[in-house]
Amino acid sequence: MICKNIGINEKGHLTFAGRDTVELAAKYGTPLYLLDEERVRENCRVYKNALSRELGEASLPLYAGKALCVKDVYRIMREEKMGIDVVSCGEIFTAWSAGFPMENAYFHGNNKTDEDVRFAFEKGVGCFVCDNEEELCAIEREAAERNTVQKVLIRVAPGIDPHTHKAISTGSIDSKFGTAIETGQAMELVSLALSKKHVALAGLHCHIGSQIFETQPFCDAADIMLRFMAEIKKEMGCTLTELNLGGGIGVRYLESHPEIDVDGYITEVAAHIKSAAKALSFPLPAIRLEPGRSIVADAGMTLYSAGAVKRIPGFKNYLSVDGGMADNPRYALYQSPYTVEIANKMNEEKTFVCTVAGRCCESGDMIQENVPLPEPERGDTVAVCTTGAYNYAMASNYNRLPRPPMITLTANGEHIAVKRESLEDLIRNEL
Ligand code: LLP
Repeated sequence: MICKNIGINEKGHLTFAGRDTVELAAKYGTPLYLLDEERVRENCRVYKNALSRELGEASLPLYAGKALCVKDVYRIMREEKMGIDVVSCGEIFTAWSAGFPMENAYFHGNNKTDEDVRFAFEKGVGCFVCDNEEELCAIEREAAERNTVQKVLIRVAPGIDPHTHKAISTGSIDSKFGTAIETGQAMELVSLALSKKHVALAGLHCHIGSQIFETQPFCDAADIMLRFMAEIKKEMGCTLTELNLGGGIGVRYLESHPEIDVDGYITEVAAHIKSAAKALSFPLPAIRLEPGRSIVADAGMTLYSAGAVKRIPGFKNYLSVDGGMADNPRYALYQSPYTVEIANKMNEEKTFVCTVAGRCCESGDMIQENVPLPEPERGDTVAVCTTGAYNYAMASNYNRLPRPPMITLTANGEHIAVKRESLEDLIRNEL
């Protein structure tokens, strides 16, 4: 199985977090998102323990809520004493509503509006990751008005291609995110930040991409960032104390993907950071990492009911499910791989190779292609694994489909984290 929270029980049913998924589908209906709370906690602890062990107590992982932003997840983050990365008033509001201590929130985004800036101040967001000059001035204005000093990091584009899907590679120089070192603009922005009375520049941030399996891109990014920090020290006499290397550690979607040992990964990157800082005679900064996917992806699963089974002789087979691109747009957008199973036929031979299609009126609405499955029938429970990240978060009401509910499976029970949208919900804002 691709993750240790997935198994098969004596009935030949797929289990998730120790529960029979066929029973869960019958109890709550489909489509259905499941969230394994213990798995989320374990993933957080791996980051927390490895970072503090290797880089000291001042280091902290920040959960990137863009991967899955619901109150229940922020409750877990609060209890696990994680920091968080937020990117909008909506994410700030969700975290704040869950009682998350907002001083541990870092506010990202390449175009924060004045309203966003004001809202973040109001809710006590601890740190702004400042993307550009306009934003810096907006923060300075708001902080001056409130007669306070706001902690900021500056987002820098280190110019690294992490060999990942281009659409999610965000650290290169021509990116809309951050300010490039190479063009001299990052140094100018640092200098401007240092001149502002109501801004306290603590350090730098970069994010090189997502679904990265190798440690090398992170080590390269750390080198570039530390060198730049040393240069700032030399040119401006200012020793920055925080370095945020962003998110991006990959997860296993298929059996053929490598199993990532996040603890070992962080140990390796940390050793590199320590020796790079030493070589530059630069004091080791407090390190931040911003994992999203690797905290929640394998803690999620989606259950559907099988509908039409279409055999087109000489061409291909389709199995249609009662969800699709509205609850998981990632195959349509990025051709993302997923492991698909028929949850009630786990011990049957996989003789039916098919495209698992969604129910939307769009031919690109697919969950996966070329999937070997047991012979499917209408009513089977279809499970898609590793859907915790960027599924619910990217879901839409396309074709007026109500969003599915999310059930959190806890150590000793389960609860509805998000209820199923109703038809009334769909027209709620229409006057
Ligand atoms: N920090 C920043 C500044 C980010 O932009 C991101 C992701 C993260 C952290 C978290 O990265 P992660 O650990 O999750 O890789 N929708 C795409 C992924 C977009 C990622 C955007 N930024 C997908 O479904 O694959």
